[in-house]
Amino acid sequence: MNVVLAIDSGTTGVRSRAVFDDGSAAITSYREFTQIFPQPGWVEHDATEIWQAVLTTLQEVTCQIDQTITAIGITNQRETVVAWNKQTGKPYGNAIVWQDRRTADRCVELAENLPLVRQQTGLVLDPYFSATKIEWLLTNREIRQDDDLCIGTIDSWLIWNLTGGKSFVTDCTNASRTMLFDINKMNWSKELTELLGVDPKFLPEVRPSSSDFGVTVQLGSLPSGISISGVAGDQHAALFGQACFETGSTKNTYGTGSFVLMNVGTTCPAPKDGMLTTIAWQLGSNKPVYALEGAIFVTGAAIQWLRDGLNIIDNASEITALAQSVTDSGGVVVVPAFTGLGSPWWDAYARGSIFGITRGTSRAHIARATIESIVFQTRDVVDAMTKSSGVAVSELKVDGGASVIDFMLQLQADHLGVDVLRPKELETTVMGAAYLAGLSKGVWQSTQDISKAWQLEKIFSPANTPSGYETWQMAVKRSMNWAK
Ligand SMILES: Nc1ncnc2c1ncn2[C@@H]1O[C@H](COP(=O)(O)OP(=O)(O)OP(=O)(O)O)[C@@H](O)[C@H]1O
Ligand SMILES: [Mg+2]
Repeated sequence: MNVVLAIDSGTTGVRSRAVFDDGSAAITSYREFTQIFPQPGWVEHDATEIWQAVLTTLQEVTCQIDQTITAIGITNQRETVVAWNKQTGKPYGNAIVWQDRRTADRCVELAENLPLVRQQTGLVLDPYFSATKIEWLLTNREIRQDDDLCIGTIDSWLIWNLTGGKSFVTDCTNASRTMLFDINKMNWSKELTELLGVDPKFLPEVRPSSSDFGVTVQLGSLPSGISISGVAGDQHAALFGQACFETGSTKNTYGTGSFVLMNVGTTCPAPKDGMLTTIAWQLGSNKPVYALEGAIFVTGAAIQWLRDGLNIIDNASEITALAQSVTDSGGVVVVPAFTGLGSPWWDAYARGSIFGITRGTSRAHIARATIESIVFQTRDVVDAMTKSSGVAVSELKVDGGASVIDFMLQLQADHLGVDVLRPKELETTVMGAAYLAGLSKGVWQSTQDISKAWQLEKIFSPANTPSGYETWQMAVKRSMNWAK
């Protein structure tokens, strides 16, 4: 029997899981970590706290297993950047998180470079991506630009720590989110690293997602000598864990935000219509597989805001009953543009708004409108994706914390006019990392083994005539260009 350890280092918490290839129940450990909001629009994490949380969850899992661990896989929140010193092992201040908007004005200044960014990276010029965050770090923190400097995404930071400072590497999916990586040529872009003043010698070496990234040193109950053999950004890992191996197959993860990714095969398409082109994964020496992506910044986080900001629910799970206690949203439209709008709008200055409030509006209407906003944002993205790719989404596989809401998925099927498929395994992100690592070590022979492991739990088919979408689009337009 083989055991693969997978680490999912997310935005709000980290999870370690031991996956057994004989189908035995997985062993999982999870820890949340601190979200730091120094100013409106800024979001930071303490990279050392993340590493400690990863280490704690790894220890909690490894102390429960006797078998030799075959491989380690890592998946992570993307775009978030850490700069650290090789000698001290310490970060230069907090990591800047993907949600952080501090470089919005800088992106406006750089606007004339959009065609270059679009063509080389498949992205848009938005503070979401790493490049302007790295430039900010180098300009605003006391960082000595010498041989001891490392700048990387969370995967690089974790690998560097797991290997005792030996491997400074990343995978091509994480690199593809920095806005510094040429996804056609598969190397750091000369033009973009120069434009942002980032010397590529401070950036990690880029490897295929399923390949060798280094071996562990002993860390408590985690043994030395285990190969880290699979790494991918969380959304890419989820696409892999959902077994979206056919061209055109599409998934949506309903987590903190929502990320719709469609496998578009081995030819990199030109990005259009507010969609991103990104690397889905690369298996060993095979050609990279590309994906179209629609990135929605706030979906599940809006439910958390109802809980923590408005206190109209005590638990995320209460939203379903509250929203279903009314037959419609009573004309209320919630646009949860808390950190601007991503695909297909790309407006860093949009902010959250609630429209259509009357004297009869209750918390139930707001809860229902919040769920509808998740459905509408997904429809915006799927419509733009269909337009951009010329390939109609024929079914949507779903996962993530908020995908437990049946009535939301039914509404999603009604609005998209296609079947929505929820698998038994909702932790597809961590499973994707396990599969990528296990594939390169022969634990699984091919992607067919992974397709066989995917099991349907419930299917939601279009059944009702959808309404409210035109009003939603009007509300989105009115939320835009607010915080300038
Ligand atoms: N029972 C539930 N009902 C409704 N929503 C839920 C429920 N449980 C969790 N959620 C929502 O799911 C979200 C968390 O999902 P998930 O853990 O997939 O997020 P994530 O984006 O992967 O986070 P991270 O980046 O930390 O990994 C939360 O925002 C929460 O509001
Ligand atoms: Mg996650």
